[in-house]
Amino acid sequence: MFDFEMAETDEALAALNERGRNVLPGGVCSSTRFNQAWGRPVYASRSQGARFWDIQGREFLDMSMSHGATLLGHGHESLKQVFEKAWELGGLCSLDSPLHIELAEELCRLVPCGERARFTSSGSEATLHALRLCRAASGREKIIRFFGHFHGYHELTFIAGHPPADQLDASPPYRESAGIPQSMAELIVPLPYNDIAALEAAVERHKDEVGTILIEPVDFNCGCILPEPGFLERARELASEHNMVLFFDEIQSFAKKSAGGAQQDFGVTPDICTIGKSLGAGLPLSAILGSAELMDRYKPVGDVAHSGTFNAPLTSILAGLAFVAEIDRPEFWQTIESLAARLFAGLDDIAARSPIPVRFQRHGSRFGIIFGTREPVINYRQSLCHKPETMLEFCRQTTDRGVYFHDYGGGACHHGFSLAHTADDIDRVLEVMDESLQAMG
Ligand SMILES: Cc1ncc(COP(=O)(O)O)c(C=O)c1O
Repeated sequence: MFDFEMAETDEALAALNERGRNVLPGGVCSSTRFNQAWGRPVYASRSQGARFWDIQGREFLDMSMSHGATLLGHGHESLKQVFEKAWELGGLCSLDSPLHIELAEELCRLVPCGERARFTSSGSEATLHALRLCRAASGREKIIRFFGHFHGYHELTFIAGHPPADQLDASPPYRESAGIPQSMAELIVPLPYNDIAALEAAVERHKDEVGTILIEPVDFNCGCILPEPGFLERARELASEHNMVLFFDEIQSFAKKSAGGAQQDFGVTPDICTIGKSLGAGLPLSAILGSAELMDRYKPVGDVAHSGTFNAPLTSILAGLAFVAEIDRPEFWQTIESLAARLFAGLDDIAARSPIPVRFQRHGSRFGIIFGTREPVINYRQSLCHKPETMLEFCRQTTDRGVYFHDYGGGACHHGFSLAHTADDIDRVLEVMDESLQAMG
């Protein structure tokens, strides 16, 4: 039932592509999974540790790691126990258990703003449900958000994240997909990140309509832009002064540099946050964490709906517990820090030698690649110097040499390593990146 054939010849690969396109739009299950550098989907056959093998049997050292979801590595050994335990407990679908409470307790212990938790499956689902709560609690519908940040694909926030340069001042703000109603865009106030004056002015101007300040504290989705000193602190003050909810979307930044996420890394505690990606060790799991006062607005205590047949499936909860057990070990962070130090020292050398202007920005185990500049990038407008065609060529060069970077359609996004990468793997990645850039010069 589960068998499939490898597609080692060009003819077999073309036939697989054809089969895929006939039943899946573009041959993929997620639009951005279509690899533009290759002009076709990446069909994988299996993965293990820091590597995956494609359907032609080619081995790749993985520098995407499922966009950060498999931070422990592909097929981490704890998953075997997870699947066995889930089987032993009969799967337990649509029912809570003491294990659900235990994971919520663990997350509330680790993440500074967490006093209560609710589980969801994807990051998009988490931000959608969290924003409903923010609106109910503040009683105001508009949301301040920042250019370059990403908060999922739904109608509430797939607006003004990554507009083309000539749409930065669009009113109503730029919608990032066909099908998003204009009325949704009218509820979004987009601002440049790291611009305190712009934030103060917008809060003053919209204080009667804006109830939420939504931030991706480390803007991984635009090449990894860090918060400038004082920015998150000022957002915290303004939100408190004006009874706005400060919402950190930490779907990506959770557990990248510390177990408490960016709110721990930068010492600013929001009212609510969403965490996800690596939380499920490769299985779908995300969570909303926040103050008791805010979170108890959820039914059945309060008046905000949040339910779902697949909320917190047991297998994902077990995987979440396995993940938390890993990140709770000091040795976990020692390994991440030592690999990061090795990688980022090498990247600095590579950037300095590169014949093509390139900038690497980093936080914890992930980093951005921005082509077209060697200077620090602190907001979305600056990141627009990035050259998508150069990124696609870079991805072709590295995959030809056996190192996989996800191409993000050529966008400046994020890449990273996992616990399963070794120092030798990091050295190989650096060698391949260097060779690729030199070949492109
Ligand atoms: C900050 C942030 N929020 C939300 C999302 C959406 O998460 P998902 O892809 O699980 O829906 C992502 C995914 O990249 C993200 O990085």
